[in-house]
Amino acid sequence: MHREEISRIAHAGHPVKAPLGDDSVRDLLRHALPRGDERVLDLGCGTAEWLLRALATRPGVRAEGVDISADALALARDAADERGLGERLGLHHRPAEEFAAKEPFDVVVSVGAAHAFGGLLPTLAAARAHLAPSGRILVGDGFWERPPSPEAVDMLGDLAPLADTVERVTAAGWTPVHGHISTRQELDAYEWACWGSVAAWALDHPDHPDSAEVLETAALRRTEWLRSYRDSFGFVCLVLRRTPGTA
Ligand SMILES: C[S@@+](CC[C@H](N)C(=O)[O-])C[C@H]1O[C@@H](n2cnc3c(N)ncnc32)[C@H](O)[C@@H]1O
Repeated sequence: MHREEISRIAHAGHPVKAPLGDDSVRDLLRHALPRGDERVLDLGCGTAEWLLRALATRPGVRAEGVDISADALALARDAADERGLGERLGLHHRPAEEFAAKEPFDVVVSVGAAHAFGGLLPTLAAARAHLAPSGRILVGDGFWERPPSPEAVDMLGDLAPLADTVERVTAAGWTPVHGHISTRQELDAYEWACWGSVAAWALDHPDHPDSAEVLETAALRRTEWLRSYRDSFGFVCLVLRRTPGTA
């Protein structure tokens, strides 16, 4: 089965593709969009769930999302139209690095997409290029809660401990005005939602030609999580404003 189809099944019950519960998403959006009439850009928006939630609760918000996945953007468009939010949402099928806009944005969101930019600091640099001078960034990325195994580094890349991660962000000219560190419950709930949904789909479709392969994929991913990175991986979201006096 195609990767995108597995991803669709995996996220059916957890449309935000990051380890955060609904209350945490709501709270982060409240800090990132304090006025309710912001122009928002999401780099690596996926199915645009962050934008859809911002739009649904704030009639004055307008949003643009950028992603390289045509399938994810098609799901985003359908969901936006179904929820009556389509007119205030623009979607762009292209690499985030190639996105250009005429006007800067009040808020730039990028959660779980730092790998696309080559890490957290390049993600912030890319976001900054689109941000109005008094704007806010809402960024989410992994960190090492404990020293990682070599397999975890292979899978998740070259992350840093939380304090180092935040210090790198502040050294790059950003002041965190809010943040959320995913709880053990949120981290586990996300993995179970993904690999449990994929396993359940295989069990519910025993006659599908891909059923056995999909069940194997669910088992492999669950084992990778439990054996390779559950003990070391953490996830942090930060709401950032420019530190005065930085370039
Ligand atoms: C883990 S998902 C996060 C999606 C969304 N931000 C969320 O939290 O629900 C990462 C997304 O980054 C997208 N992506 C990867 N490389 C990209 C690139 N170069 N430009 C834009 N999007 C990219 C993927 O297609 C995927 O939708």
